[in-house]
Amino acid sequence: MDPWMIELWKLRKEYPAPTGPAVIVKDFTLKVGTGEFVCIIGHSGCGKSTVLSILMGLSQETSGNVVVAGKEVTGPGRDRGVVFQSAALLPWMSVRDNLLLAIEPRNGAHTLDERGQLADRYLTQVGLDGLGHCMPEELSAGMRQRVGIARAFAVEPQVLLLDEPFSLLDALTRFELQDHLVQLCERTRKTVVMVTHDVDEALLLADRIVLMTNGPAATIGGIMQVPLPRPRIRGKILEHPAYYPARDQLLSFLESGTTLPDTKKEEEEEDDEAIYPTFTHDAHEHRDAL
Ligand SMILES: Nc1ncnc2c1ncn2[C@@H]1O[C@H](COP(=O)(O)OP(=O)(O)O)[C@@H](O)[C@H]1O
Ligand SMILES: [Mg+2]
Repeated sequence: MDPWMIELWKLRKEYPAPTGPAVIVKDFTLKVGTGEFVCIIGHSGCGKSTVLSILMGLSQETSGNVVVAGKEVTGPGRDRGVVFQSAALLPWMSVRDNLLLAIEPRNGAHTLDERGQLADRYLTQVGLDGLGHCMPEELSAGMRQRVGIARAFAVEPQVLLLDEPFSLLDALTRFELQDHLVQLCERTRKTVVMVTHDVDEALLLADRIVLMTNGPAATIGGIMQVPLPRPRIRGKILEHPAYYPARDQLLSFLESGTTLPDTKKEEEEEDDEAIYPTFTHDAHEHRDAL
């Protein structure tokens, strides 16, 4: 089995502009291992959603290659579950029907009954046990986003792509949903790529954090291998000696927007990829750690 579930190679995205093409993202090369959780962090407008929407198959790259599970991405597919900032549920259908709509008859769930069980199982796992009959308007924004996450998992995709899924929620709801996501991912071993601008969220969830440089022509400024053991328990990980140094490095990167702390000199000297222990451009080095 190919250990790489996602392969992005020299991804480039341009939009036409009056003064010539505007390069939004360039030279974005990343491999994500099967079962790995990768967060992409960067300033607003740098091109995070652009990369993710290409992975989702909702936007076409200008050049480069996008491969998921060994197949070139040519459009959206059920191999990739997606979650956005808000769940966009169909307002005239119950929560359960919204989920059933997403679960097609296949694999172990052929009958409507079996699909219903699948829907109920994932509703329970996001803390919405017994609320399948509710209409979306009866739910809070946080509950609707839970349904969005349940829907993405209920499709049972190999890959989950999340674009700032918790950014519109209050802190307590965000924490709860992050915990549900951690549990669901641990249970199902999905491969996940999630965009966030929250460094604490990235440190809680990710195996690796991809730092995008500021646009235009944004690219990968560096990759942090998160130095925290799993399972990660909120509160507990704050006590880990590696937590605050890692957090400071992420924040320093975000402040500078272009270079990684402590890596520039080494990069210049070696004329090579970043070699600082925590950061790397080379995902291969870390396969054994996963
Ligand atoms: N359809 C489009 N046409 C032209 N420019 C776009 C289009 N979509 C996004 N952009 C530009 O691409 C840049 C990156 O956008 P986006 O990927 O949404 O950033 P992020 O998700 O990091 O906030 C922004 O400057 C945005 O204005
Ligand atoms: Mg975005």
